[in-house]
Amino acid sequence: MSYPAPHAVPHIPRSGAVAARATALSKVYGQGETRVAALDSVSVEFRRAEFTAIMGPSGSGKSTLMHCMAGLDTISSGSTRIGDVELGSLGDRQLTALRRDRIGFVFQAFNLLPTLSALENITLPMDIAGRKPDPQWLQQVVATLGLSGRLAHRPSQLSGGQQQRVAVARALTAQPEIIFADEPTGNLDSRSGAELLGFLHESVRALQQTVVMVTHDAVAASYADRVVFLADGRIVDELREPTADAVLDRMRRLPGGNPRTPAFDAKGRTS
Ligand SMILES: Nc1ncnc2c1ncn2[C@@H]1O[C@H](COP(=O)(O)OP(=O)(O)OP(=O)(O)O)[C@@H](O)[C@H]1O
Ligand SMILES: [Mg+2]
Repeated sequence: MSYPAPHAVPHIPRSGAVAARATALSKVYGQGETRVAALDSVSVEFRRAEFTAIMGPSGSGKSTLMHCMAGLDTISSGSTRIGDVELGSLGDRQLTALRRDRIGFVFQAFNLLPTLSALENITLPMDIAGRKPDPQWLQQVVATLGLSGRLAHRPSQLSGGQQQRVAVARALTAQPEIIFADEPTGNLDSRSGAELLGFLHESVRALQQTVVMVTHDAVAASYADRVVFLADGRIVDELREPTADAVLDRMRRLPGGNPRTPAFDAKGRTS
């Protein structure tokens, strides 16, 4: 696989800096009997050119964390930043512009527009932002994701896995500062999933792309540089240079619910 030279990457300084940060982030849904504390004082940072996986039981707050950090959902307290911009300081229009220009999304619901072709969906965010995709990069993304023969199809004419890959291509093509992906391999067979993960990994290595990915799969997580574990709306553990076995081992020790197991101290670190 070959990638465009680093100078083809637009304008953004990426080395070492923090791409996104949450500080004491809490998110409460509902009130009274339906009150749910989805995130409970989460502090986490994602460094540029790093591939982070977020894992945790269903309902532990993974999607909420991504939505809050990407400015797609309001927060109850704390703060969130993309680069050095605090999202809470932005008005609606500034927030929309920041999401459009600096963030890539791959969500469980793919959010493809039904009336547009696959290619139009892929280039839509850049069209809206008035930017032109790098043709070589676009072609490479499309080929690697196995979409070359499907570019004229509409979403309804594509399988679930193909729609997933269109959503991934859309995020990668714009080369945003950070990509938030919620189970991007969830609808893929293991071979397509492995290809996609290898591609994400390479985009981090070769293009200094920053990727944050929610996954339930220990093998998928092992493609990341770092795994952050959530349980009950809190970060309870972290692993660097993960192997699938190490991830499985940590998952087994995650608290399934309240009360938290004593394997974790008050700061959520293992002893
Ligand atoms: N819009 C909402 N209104 C009320 N409660 C919500 C809302 N969205 C999420 N929640 C609750 O917040 C908690 C965290 O949900 P979240 O979707 O972040 O979990 P998750 O870790 O992504 O789970 P999964 O692995 O099943 O996708 C859950 O208890 C969920 O029921
Ligand atoms: Mg989720």
